[in-house]
Amino acid sequence: MKALILSGGHGTRLRPLTYSQQKQLIPVANKPVLFYAIEDVIEAGIRDIGIIVGPNKEQVIETVRSVDWDADIEFIYQGDPLGLAHAILVAEEFLDDEEFVMYLGDNILRDGIIEHAQKFKELNPDSLILLTQVDEPQRFGVAEFDENGRVKRLIEKPKVPPSNYALVGVYFFKPIIIEACKNIKPSWRNELEITDAIQWLIDNGYRVETSIVTGWWKDTGKPEDILEANRLVLDDIEPKNEGKLENSRIIGRVIIEEGAMIRDSVVKGPCVIGKNSQVVNAYIGPYTSIGNNCVIEGTEIEDSVIMDGSVIINAGRIVESLIGRNVKIIEANSKPKGCRFVVGDNSNIVL
Ligand code: TTP
Repeated sequence: MKALILSGGHGTRLRPLTYSQQKQLIPVANKPVLFYAIEDVIEAGIRDIGIIVGPNKEQVIETVRSVDWDADIEFIYQGDPLGLAHAILVAEEFLDDEEFVMYLGDNILRDGIIEHAQKFKELNPDSLILLTQVDEPQRFGVAEFDENGRVKRLIEKPKVPPSNYALVGVYFFKPIIIEACKNIKPSWRNELEITDAIQWLIDNGYRVETSIVTGWWKDTGKPEDILEANRLVLDDIEPKNEGKLENSRIIGRVIIEEGAMIRDSVVKGPCVIGKNSQVVNAYIGPYTSIGNNCVIEGTEIEDSVIMDGSVIINAGRIVESLIGRNVKIIEANSKPKGCRFVVGDNSNIVL
């Protein structure tokens, strides 16, 4: 079996971060979201991986190539992000008439995909889709079942949901899906929708089976989703200290990476402090990921993701924040006093 991991798209809901960074590279617990998908696919025994790349393709290629994966990875350029079914058509040559799993590169599943890959092999359907129970099905693609419990319809963001089973961003397909993708029309948002392609399979008598995801699943499409994914992943970390501690207190499960220095501070897990970062006279609270090469001084940070190279000095108390790379937040020590901002388009500041 092959794997097709999607790492294209504009990620508009994650602006301004996605002006300069492809959304699947945003770190969760200091690891790009995309790496969770690659790891899951490899863990399921798949060695032939195609990654769909789009607007920021060079970054994605460089970041993926910085790791020595136990797999052959090929990059497939999708000129315009015209939908998930369009991505399959762009990958037709790579897929080469074989069955495959399609994994959205901004999704994270706690328990990976091994169990579902086995079910796909055993049941041998034309497609196996993953579903999970959600509280607000109106926000998701939702499955409607017939009297025998088989999926008969998939509906995007239904006003009146026929069930609370939402589609998870992992799909198993036989090559017939290519024909389905070729037979559908773009939707109102001008995308070739994967839900329409799966509906085409159902309507044309092909067998679509389901597999239920019971562990947590997170689609990291919006800022609050990144923070939630960060909490969920940090909840499972194993503590480790490869850095230096001076006059500091570490409470709970904390990862301190190589070269990091914690001085005169309190760090309360679960959290992770990245390589070569300095935490001085600060409090780092639960559910915080501090990236590599950051400086946090005289500041309290809790429940936040701070990306590589950011410097935060005497900035008071920061909570539930998503801070990009090389950001500076520092106390003004010249007159006039007051907040001074140099903030990109679509930034979001709550004082
Ligand atoms: P979306 O979450 O719809 O991604 P998006 O980039 O369109 O986000 P936004 O709505 O914020 O603008 O897509 C799901 C995943 O599939 C995500 O990982 C991006 C990827 N993708 C592609 O690779 N190609 C595409 O044509 C599309 C639409 C998405």
